[in-house]
Amino acid sequence: MMANDGFISLNSDDTTIIVACAIGDRPRILHWGARLRDASGEMISQLTTRQHVHGGPDVFLESSLFNEIGASPPGLSGFSAHRAGQHWAQEFVVEHVIENKPGSVSIVCRDDASEIVATSSISLDDETGVMTLSTAIENAGKSELSIDTCAAGNLPLNERASRLFGFTGRWAMEFQREEIPPFSGSYVRENLRGRTSHDSFPGLIAAADNTTEQEGDCFGFHLGWSGNHRLRVDRLNDGRAFVQMGECFLPSEMTLAPGETYQSPTLYAAFSPNGMNGLSSRFHTHLKTQVMDGRIDRKPRPVHYNTWEAVYFDHDLEKLKTLADKAAEVGVERFILDDGWFGSRRDDTSGLGDWQASDAVYPDGLKPLIDHVKSRGMEFGLWFEPEMVNPDSDLFRTHPDWILKAEGLDQPPARHQYVLDLTRAEVADHLFGQIDAVLADHDIDYIKWDMNRDIHHPGSGGRAVASRQTHAVYALMDRIRAKYPDLEIESCASGGGRADYGVLSRTDRIWTSDSNDALDRQLIQRGATYFFPLDVIGAHVGPARCHITGRRLSMQLRVATAFFGHMGLELDLLKERPKDIDTLKTGLALHKEHRSLLHSGVVHRLEVPAHANAIAVVAADGSEALFSWCDLTGHVETHPRRMFAVGLDESTLYRVRLIWPTGQISPTQPSIIEAANLHGDGSMFTGEALMQIGLQLPLTLPETCLIFHMKAE
Ligand code: GLA
Repeated sequence: MMANDGFISLNSDDTTIIVACAIGDRPRILHWGARLRDASGEMISQLTTRQHVHGGPDVFLESSLFNEIGASPPGLSGFSAHRAGQHWAQEFVVEHVIENKPGSVSIVCRDDASEIVATSSISLDDETGVMTLSTAIENAGKSELSIDTCAAGNLPLNERASRLFGFTGRWAMEFQREEIPPFSGSYVRENLRGRTSHDSFPGLIAAADNTTEQEGDCFGFHLGWSGNHRLRVDRLNDGRAFVQMGECFLPSEMTLAPGETYQSPTLYAAFSPNGMNGLSSRFHTHLKTQVMDGRIDRKPRPVHYNTWEAVYFDHDLEKLKTLADKAAEVGVERFILDDGWFGSRRDDTSGLGDWQASDAVYPDGLKPLIDHVKSRGMEFGLWFEPEMVNPDSDLFRTHPDWILKAEGLDQPPARHQYVLDLTRAEVADHLFGQIDAVLADHDIDYIKWDMNRDIHHPGSGGRAVASRQTHAVYALMDRIRAKYPDLEIESCASGGGRADYGVLSRTDRIWTSDSNDALDRQLIQRGATYFFPLDVIGAHVGPARCHITGRRLSMQLRVATAFFGHMGLELDLLKERPKDIDTLKTGLALHKEHRSLLHSGVVHRLEVPAHANAIAVVAADGSEALFSWCDLTGHVETHPRRMFAVGLDESTLYRVRLIWPTGQISPTQPSIIEAANLHGDGSMFTGEALMQIGLQLPLTLPETCLIFHMKAE
């Protein structure tokens, strides 16, 4: 891996990274992409020689891993810092290189004049090909150092990666992939919401012209961080392009006393020669094997029942017990009591911060409900929103000064709540004590950790502390996990507002979106799969009439949509029609039958016409697959198209059946369902035929989602 010629090369099956890091030079990535078997750093260096041009400096300015002001091409600032206005430009040159372990190096650099040690750590996971990159900045001087910008890393964009895809959205419409039109200059997303955000997901995909979901070269980037962040792509007028991601600091937020070190969050990046599905597969495996602790693989993901859309704040023990009975009957395995169980929380104006069961609603505490849930064979989960306080709460009345604050300004309320200052030890200790008391006294398997507002004024003691607040939230989660190692945690922030690898390194799933509208969910979940595997994507069957969009959707569609995720329910089971309850019960049983494949197989998004969405999960050995095809809106032509299978083994014979929906679903007969007996024993086709010829879809009504099962025989 390390060579004494001034180059480092890191290799996995089909990825190579070559870093130029000769002692005394600025370190930079020469190559990151396709596996190179014989090309040396020296060769690449020569092949990529650039000359200076008229109108520019007399030497060609190279980028570096840091892109520090002072030595990089103008406009590429990945690092800027100063000492009270002095020493504001640096040139970091390599002092020494440390091999941490095979596949992982730290390149230690220094700028003597400003007395800063900058270390870039790069690892390439040889199993998944995912690179991790981070930067540490040490103040080796004798005065305070202010860091304005510090990217986790700076990655040159492969010249062939001409197309860029970002992720945007809003509350109840997260993870919307958008293609970024070609540009000169910069594409910048700055997120100052104090959480990962609904609209600026810290992820990016760069792809070659001809790349599809299934084929072609592409590069993916994700910052594992749940706070303010900046993502930028700079296309210089000399043809080079770079991707940088890191925290986004508020004024003077990041200052280091002499001897202190700043550690950036981790940038996860991967190259795939096998399209965007290949990229996602790398990210999924890396997340599950390297970032998360493997806990979710230890047992099947239990089917959830969440009380929110069933009862909102209207908690009543008898009704909840009845719902628990019903939930157990239909096949639920974990019952989660959402918002409204504590303090004076009878609506969203009051009670946040007072984490004791409400005397009015639960005079005997939560035990009677928990016992009831457990007696029905289900696990129990409970909702918390630890970082928040309503002004109308005992906590706020006792400690009005415990909230984050920008001096001289009033924190704009959002959902009638303020954000607590977790950077203060007494606040974090208090919250730990409150949550600990509930967990210690009750048999609780799971908590839903919510965070329902942006942080507008992340200040403490007059200074901006957004970064420290995010670290303090992580520390509180870590402390709870350390004491309750088997407790599972869901990360929720008004749906998918805090979904990233930083929070997932200490939680077990994300609440993907507050929208339980199955049609919207098809695309929200599709978008989430670029970076997240199905077993961390919380997906619920909502009520017949969606509370957020007002749309009425069939139980068949609602089930089929939640089926491809960590499945759950969030509806009033007493209000659904009996025949829909039967459909639900059948759907949950089917999910359980197939969840080990859903939660371990390789996810493929299919390229489909605009009226449809399709996703597949194929067992790693190709022996089994599930394909979901959803007609979202109806099609212009008389017939739907064929579904071209992907990921199968060409020469294997698969028995193909249509396992969802059951019953007569096509307006005219016979269709392929009868011709190939798809609702019965199915028919046998080779993987080659399914992939090359495709499977003619039956005519269905719009808003029908078909699930095909294919099994090698
Ligand atoms: C947020 C969550 C919801 C629910 C409510 C409770 O909006 O995303 O799922 O928990 O809070 O107030």
